[in-house]
Amino acid sequence: MQLDPIKALVQNDFQAVNALILDSLHSKASIINDLGHYIIQSGGKRLRPLVVILIAHASGYSGKQHINLATVIEFIHTATLLHDDVVDDAVLRRGRKTANNVWGNEAAVLVGDFLYSKAFQMLTVVENLRVMNVLANATNIMAEGEALQLLQRGNPETTEGGYLNIIRSKTAKLFEASAQVGAILGNADSALELALTQFGMHLGTAFQLIDDVLDYEASPTETGKKLGNDLAEGKVTLPLIYLLQNGNKKDTRLVEEAIRKNESQHLPLIQKMIQESGALDYTRNFAKVESNRAKKALEKLSSSAYRDAAYALTDFAIHRNH
Ligand code: IPE
Ligand code: IPE
Ligand code: MG
Ligand code: MG
Repeated sequence: MQLDPIKALVQNDFQAVNALILDSLHSKASIINDLGHYIIQSGGKRLRPLVVILIAHASGYSGKQHINLATVIEFIHTATLLHDDVVDDAVLRRGRKTANNVWGNEAAVLVGDFLYSKAFQMLTVVENLRVMNVLANATNIMAEGEALQLLQRGNPETTEGGYLNIIRSKTAKLFEASAQVGAILGNADSALELALTQFGMHLGTAFQLIDDVLDYEASPTETGKKLGNDLAEGKVTLPLIYLLQNGNKKDTRLVEEAIRKNESQHLPLIQKMIQESGALDYTRNFAKVESNRAKKALEKLSSSAYRDAAYALTDFAIHRNH
């Protein structure tokens, strides 16, 4: 499943976003230039900007503010990644060493702060109070989601409901906000804005569910991230929750221990247990349900190539390997 045909539809907008991203990264602090360019140019998928652009066009918007908002949202996303990699002690991102791995935690945190604040400086230029409100809320809820996740770390009693609550906050919320600001720009009526907001929320949920599957089964050359990082951090995602609920006593005891101790020494064994228990199929299936809900929400839009591309994005979210 490829992203390129979806991006090709909005190629000019995409180039404008990339140019604005680079233009906005200048600073007199060399670490911001160096680290900022390193992470920004390392080939992220730019999915959230894509959602802003597609939904704005699909809602009939013909102005230029979607370029600014797509850039703002990619900056918020990038800041979150910089901080997330510090918190997760991650070594690999986008196929390269993480920024914290190259420059250290201090620099990664500070450049993350620079990107957050830059995003909000750029947001004020758009002069749209509703859009500001949506993005301020989303950023706050993402931070809360990451904090909730930290609290659940090493807890094998994490429930499916608790997990879903975390991923809706830390990941789905920004997808939701991306779709919602696109709808607001396009002057969607309140029923359509709500449907598009739900589109983003379900898309983002499906996306994180698959991220959590890929953490157990994908190759780092595809994802650009290290396999088994979640287990190593004691992060209890749906594949593990399913295994704990459905595995035999001996297996679940070992898994509980691995979670409590944040250890990955048993990763190959636990991967095998996860595979054999059907946990990955269960999680994929869950993602498919979410993806179908996202598709359903798009039915409120009148038909257009942009709507079709948003539809294709819901398939990408669940069939991707990166
Ligand atoms: C990574 O998001 C963080 C998650 C929410 C899983 P992406 O997979 O969209 O990251 P990039 O921007 O493409 O690297
Ligand atoms: C997504 O969770 C984190 C953010 C929303 C920043 P993960 O911790 O699973 O993301 P990756 O796997 O590091 O990209
Ligand atoms: Mg992480
Ligand atoms: Mg992950």
